[in-house]
Amino acid sequence: MPNAPLVVIGNANVDLTTYLQRAPERGETVLGQNFSIGMGGKGANQAVAAARAGAQVSFIGRIGEDAFGDMVITALTTEGLELEHLARVPGPSGVASIYVEDGGANRIAVFAGASGTLTQESAAQAVASHTDLKILVSQLEIDQRVVAAALATARAMGAHTILNTAPALAVPEGILRNTTWLIANEVEIATVLGGAGVTTPQEITVDVITAGIEGWALALGCHVIVTLGDQGAIGHVPGDGTFHFSTEPVTAQDTVGAGDCFVGYFAAHLIEGLPWRNALAGGVLAASDSVTRAGAQSSYPKRSQAEQFRNRALDSV
Ligand code: RIB
Repeated sequence: MPNAPLVVIGNANVDLTTYLQRAPERGETVLGQNFSIGMGGKGANQAVAAARAGAQVSFIGRIGEDAFGDMVITALTTEGLELEHLARVPGPSGVASIYVEDGGANRIAVFAGASGTLTQESAAQAVASHTDLKILVSQLEIDQRVVAAALATARAMGAHTILNTAPALAVPEGILRNTTWLIANEVEIATVLGGAGVTTPQEITVDVITAGIEGWALALGCHVIVTLGDQGAIGHVPGDGTFHFSTEPVTAQDTVGAGDCFVGYFAAHLIEGLPWRNALAGGVLAASDSVTRAGAQSSYPKRSQAEQFRNRALDSV
């Protein structure tokens, strides 16, 4: 019986990343400067970030019976995740084709593979088997019906839920109803709000968010955090106010998976009882550190740095 208090459901990918001056236009071939094969997938990234931040984490997902699946198992086992609900299924594992341009901007195409075979029933059963569940984390790179079933099960068990609305998709009311924390970047929040019938300006700036986030949290019915890259993150908890945290600017080398690093650290800090403002600051500090290194999971702060990052999160607010 898995006993982790923090459970992440989502996809695990192998990331095939080409580093180049600029990404090709349609019909164009450009030469890259570097290439790497790394471990990714928004679900697995968030689980790994949370584990490195010091949390005991269980991961619910699916991988294929191929060499990429072997790589995922090895990597996630090394990270110390509980993998009782990481099932292997026939066919290919999830894979992401990534371009990272000079300056760190990226483009990502994901093939879900095995992650696309998660079902509502298996997700609900897997979540329900976590008798010590306190927080469930999900994203939108798996079937929304699976996300809905997982969140509903967690809420029925009295747990809190974190929904990272990445990639940018409208979120049905059935999912929002069971979301405690909604975490989105500036593009994703506009999509979510549009889907919920809330009109937003074209450009979502710090001022726009600061002015609007209380109303957005009310309209969406949950706590809301908007992440803003090098401008940090802004959160609002109804009845407890709005908080903006940003840190020293860094030179970004590769921003792939930085949002996942934020989510994992935020969840891990909440689990260990940090106030949400400190958890938000901790997420910003870790994500900001991660963009100075290449890759997704390969860029996250190491487990040996967990205490140092926690102390910085505590001192920052
Ligand atoms: O959020 C970054 C992740 O998105 C990458 O690791 C890639 O696998 C895609 O899922």
